[in-house]
Amino acid sequence: MLNERTQVGVIGAGPAGMLLAVLLRRAGVDCVVLERRDREYVANRARGATVEHRVVDLLRRHDLAGNLLRTGAVEDAVEFRLGGRRYPVRYEPLAGGRSHYIYPQQFLVRDLVDAYLADGGDLRFETAAEAIDDLTGQPRIRLADGRELRCDVVAGCDGEYGVARRAIPAGALRCADYQYDYAWLSVLAEAPPSSDCVINALHESGACVHVRRTPTVSRFYLQCGRDETRADWPDERIWKEVRIRLALDEPWTLHTGPVTDTGTVRMRSLVCDPMRYGSLFLAGDAAHIVPPVGGKGFNLALADAQELALGLIERFTTGDHRRSDAYSQHRLARIWRAQEFVHWMMDLVNTPGYGTADAAFLHRVQAARLTRLVDSPAYLAAFLEDYVGWW
Ligand code: APR
Repeated sequence: MLNERTQVGVIGAGPAGMLLAVLLRRAGVDCVVLERRDREYVANRARGATVEHRVVDLLRRHDLAGNLLRTGAVEDAVEFRLGGRRYPVRYEPLAGGRSHYIYPQQFLVRDLVDAYLADGGDLRFETAAEAIDDLTGQPRIRLADGRELRCDVVAGCDGEYGVARRAIPAGALRCADYQYDYAWLSVLAEAPPSSDCVINALHESGACVHVRRTPTVSRFYLQCGRDETRADWPDERIWKEVRIRLALDEPWTLHTGPVTDTGTVRMRSLVCDPMRYGSLFLAGDAAHIVPPVGGKGFNLALADAQELALGLIERFTTGDHRRSDAYSQHRLARIWRAQEFVHWMMDLVNTPGYGTADAAFLHRVQAARLTRLVDSPAYLAAFLEDYVGWW
């Protein structure tokens, strides 16, 4: 039987919802997590995999990083390619020992679900929130079967298409949206990684990004037209374009293998302001979206969860509302900084003016930006500050 009442009703068992729930429960704040999918689905949904060092530090402090440290891979470099040449960028000596970890998002969600349930947490799979009522009074989450969960606070961690953001009256929320005029075809392949770091290839026919996932699984992204679908990209075309765009003037080996999943990623940015309405707080993709370049979406979702947890713990344990009241303002400053960086990096990596008369000029500007990045220590330091994430 579902609890009738809780302090924090968390909608969504993605990275944001699960980290929030674990931190709240461990601090003695009562919460219930509602997740519309089943446990199997949540634990296997392949998404991003780049975890910033500060998130790893947080997980380590809460004894949640065991599997990540054991099986994740350290990443301390990124490579750019252009015109048959490599432009490797190492994080050291500028990064002060900080690196990324490559650990698929669904593995971390699995770890957080296990930790929360081991702590005795209340998590309801296959339980969708239909609507949220009385956000400025005593909020109630309405479920599909007509039952209700009364909460002091609702945490909307239900992703891009959830109910939480839509529960806020239109006039109370400003959403700034940006749509790029190209898309990325995302390709997951059973192929060992062809590099031990991310490769961002700049190419006149469009960007190609290679990211390792696990020792046997790789992801490739190919810049493509917005209207293109998998039907336009049979396997032979995928591998042909990957070869062309990643080509080097020196010998190197591209590992290929069966394509297990593909999708067209709409290149979209979104920020909703404020991230709070009455007793509803938004976290993660429910409040903001970034395109996948730079791997920021996953890390922003976890950082939201951490800040919201700290604010709500203070609110429920000492009655001090100041930190939770400042949540939206505090997070939005950081989210806009990440948006600016990702927007800049999208321009760096993707072939601009795709298919237009300006394309040749813009591609030269793009090449000049890459040259400046690897030639100027000041520019490189500024890049790494955001890419590795220590600001
Ligand atoms: N009721 C209950 N659960 C819901 C509902 C609903 N009405 N709507 C959505 N959900 C669940 C989804 O099934 C999903 O498990 O909310 C969860 C949201 O998880 P994510 O989409 O992973 O969102 P978030 O935790 O914010 O993590 C963001 O995901 O898209 C990537 O790049 C992004 O890495 C970032 C991360």
